Amino acid sequence: MGKDKIAVIGAGLMGHGIAQVFAVAGHRVRVFDAHQPALDTLRSRIAGNLADLDLPGGAEALVSGHGEPAETVGDADVVIEAAPEKLEIKQAIFADLVRHAPASAILASNTSVIPITDIVGDLDSADRMLGTHWWNPPFLVPLVEVVGTSRTSPDVIGRMIELLASVGKTPVHVKKDVAGFVGNRLQHALWREAIAIVAEGIADAETVDTVVKSSFGRRLAVLGPLENADLVGTDLTLDIHNVVLKHLNREPGPSPYLANLVQQGKLGMKSGEGFQTWPEEKAKALRGRVYRYLKEFKPVE
Ligand SMILES: NC(=O)c1ccc[n+]([C@@H]2O[C@H](COP(=O)([O-])OP(=O)(O)OC[C@H]3O[C@@H](n4cnc5c(N)ncnc54)[C@H](O)[C@@H]3O)[C@@H](O)[C@H]2O)c1
Repeated sequence: MGKDKIAVIGAGLMGHGIAQVFAVAGHRVRVFDAHQPALDTLRSRIAGNLADLDLPGGAEALVSGHGEPAETVGDADVVIEAAPEKLEIKQAIFADLVRHAPASAILASNTSVIPITDIVGDLDSADRMLGTHWWNPPFLVPLVEVVGTSRTSPDVIGRMIELLASVGKTPVHVKKDVAGFVGNRLQHALWREAIAIVAEGIADAETVDTVVKSSFGRRLAVLGPLENADLVGTDLTLDIHNVVLKHLNREPGPSPYLANLVQQGKLGMKSGEGFQTWPEEKAKALRGRVYRYLKEFKPVE
């Protein structure tokens, strides 16, 4: 049997990177985008990434851009949707995929936090629909969270996990289709507290980030939070939680501090200011450090 033919919906930051992962593993990949410029630069962005990673070029030739959904997915075995994080856009795309993709194709969404059940709605053939939550950049961060709904067939989940492992990813099965899955629930629990610490004047934004990067952040790639709880002892963990948990932020919605930044147009690096100010050089240097760190990261056995 030949390699699965892959289709990707959305040629943005995630879509082009996901296409690259499959192409590097020898899959033919067709990519649809609603905006022509994203298609025009698709191959050159992938070629640029491969050069940055010191990988041989050529895989980009397996990737083609298309302006028609039917042409993109018409003979696909697996479709991965990586369009903007808006429920109505994803719902419309999935309804379209049911019309245009083969009945046997697996249909996956790369949503960051939206429950897959909400995207699938009452569409027919929901047994072949699931979530595959990749991380940015998809060709450097190993994890993909695989999330089924109550209607997803276990066989489809198994086939997706096998496919992702075969292209070098680290797939995990998330057993319940909850908003944010596992990774973004954990990540945004941390961000909520980080923002609360700044809003309450306990420390400034730079200090909060220094605390994380110079302490438990150093260990996180080799020591997960629950391994750490076992390492220090569940009894110590209980003593700590007895004191500190009642003081942590529990607001059910976004922080007013964050909403205020957005309202003032302080959107972070793209506007030059967010929690910190970001002159272009400083932003570029940070992006470069993150990329180099991910590229050079070596797991220890
Ligand atoms: N950026 C991240 O770090 C990250 C990580 C994991 C998951 N995600 C998720 O991946 C998805 C895509 O995010 P991104 O960062 O690549 O966004 P992006 O804005 O870079 O790319 C989205 C692409 O979709 C295209 N598009 C817009 N409407 C469309 C439509 N109706 N049909 C097809 N294409 C359409 C846009 O032209 C754009 O090229 C989102 O659901 C996001 O939450 C993002």
